[in-house]
Amino acid sequence: MRISVIGCGYLGAVHAAAMASLGHEVVGIDVDERKVEALRAGRAPFFEPGLPELLLEAGAGGGLTFGTDIAEVAGARVHFVCVGTPQMAGEFRADLSYVDASVTSLVPYLRPGDVVVGKSTVPVGTAERLAAQLAPTGATLVWNPEFLREGFAVEDTLHPDRFVYGLPTDAEGVATPAGEAAKALLDEVYATPLSDGTPLVVTDYATAQLVKVAANSFLATKISFINAMAELCETAGGDVTQLADAIGYDARIGRKFLNAGLGFGGGCLPKDIRAFMARAGELGVDQALTFLREIDSINGRRRERMVELAREVCGGSFVGKRIAVLGATFKPNSDDVRDSPALAVADMLEKAGAHVVVTDPQGIENARAVRPNLEYEADVLEAVRDADVVLLGTEWTQYRELDPAQLAGAVRGLHVLDGRNVLDPVRWREAGWTYRALGRP
Ligand code: UGA
Repeated sequence: MRISVIGCGYLGAVHAAAMASLGHEVVGIDVDERKVEALRAGRAPFFEPGLPELLLEAGAGGGLTFGTDIAEVAGARVHFVCVGTPQMAGEFRADLSYVDASVTSLVPYLRPGDVVVGKSTVPVGTAERLAAQLAPTGATLVWNPEFLREGFAVEDTLHPDRFVYGLPTDAEGVATPAGEAAKALLDEVYATPLSDGTPLVVTDYATAQLVKVAANSFLATKISFINAMAELCETAGGDVTQLADAIGYDARIGRKFLNAGLGFGGGCLPKDIRAFMARAGELGVDQALTFLREIDSINGRRRERMVELAREVCGGSFVGKRIAVLGATFKPNSDDVRDSPALAVADMLEKAGAHVVVTDPQGIENARAVRPNLEYEADVLEAVRDADVVLLGTEWTQYRELDPAQLAGAVRGLHVLDGRNVLDPVRWREAGWTYRALGRP
């Protein structure tokens, strides 16, 4: 099937390549010429494991093209809207201008029976508004949120946990005939993963939009819950990693997303919970989500606590102290530094007077662009050279596997701060280091 993908960022580029790998003829559209150039050449414009291979494979078959001109979508029957919805500057609300611009630009190319598929994360009510805008074209809108994780985006797109289709419904809540026809077309697009047994939830627009933000809010809540327990452990003397293991054995709770540390960052969880609160406020049900404000605060407090811990380890003052921060990205296997806890802590330490050197396997270029005040060093042994404190901010495998004895020879002070609770305290202490972490004795 000929399909278009509007927006070729972390979501759209992977979606376009994945759909082409399923055998569809895909055109990806983005306003950023450099991004399009890279994609055309089979290069991923950002670090995402598996994406370069997928781009080359799909591109070689001729079924995947990219362009900046929206007219190239002509002839596609299904159009995926994959643009970003960042947080508005100075507000909690999501900025919908890219979504609105995408849909408006599609309108002249839509024919009756075409399907526009919304994948961007939007406040509930957006789909209803966009569907009304599309009505005169005879095209149908389906809301089909995306649940991919950066670092696993290819796997998550080709083998998702579930699909959710939000269809237009009548007054009884039953999908309209146009909705049923759109569903059939989308089933064709996803025929391979559906035949693999991927669960499908068919619902209305409101539910589909809410599923996405509810899922991200739940994940953020789990992380902040365990980080609140870390705060308690710090005062009461417990070990939050053992606590997480112990409660995680209860299948109703589960161990996933209970890793205490510097908390959540990235382009999704932080802005999604804020946009959700803002939308609840607009709908007059802000009380339902006031707990998310606390989730956000707990998350922010972890960064501050890490700075305090570093100050303590530095003997009360950062003056003349050199701190190596391992990790700049918001999580491993990504080059994304948006709202990165590691980078935020590095910045806070620098502003508090420390000499900070940041290293990261993939994120230095992006980090430098947003935090040019920090010093960067690609080589980890160089980054830690003469450091008084080594702070692990992002749990890249290469940092988890560092040899404390080898590192000991490069640094000035044997102090390690584990911001992700992934290093083995026994091993580091045996090599002569003082090991400190969030939520652990
Ligand atoms: C998140 C969701 O997990 C995806 O399902 C969703 O599709 C995506 O947002 C989105 O809305 O597009 P992602 O932002 O890639 O995915 O990152 P996560 O893996 O959720 O991690 C978010 C942050 O939480 C990271 O900073 C990570 O270090 C932190 N985290 C995660 C913890 O601090 N503890 C944990 O136990 C797990």
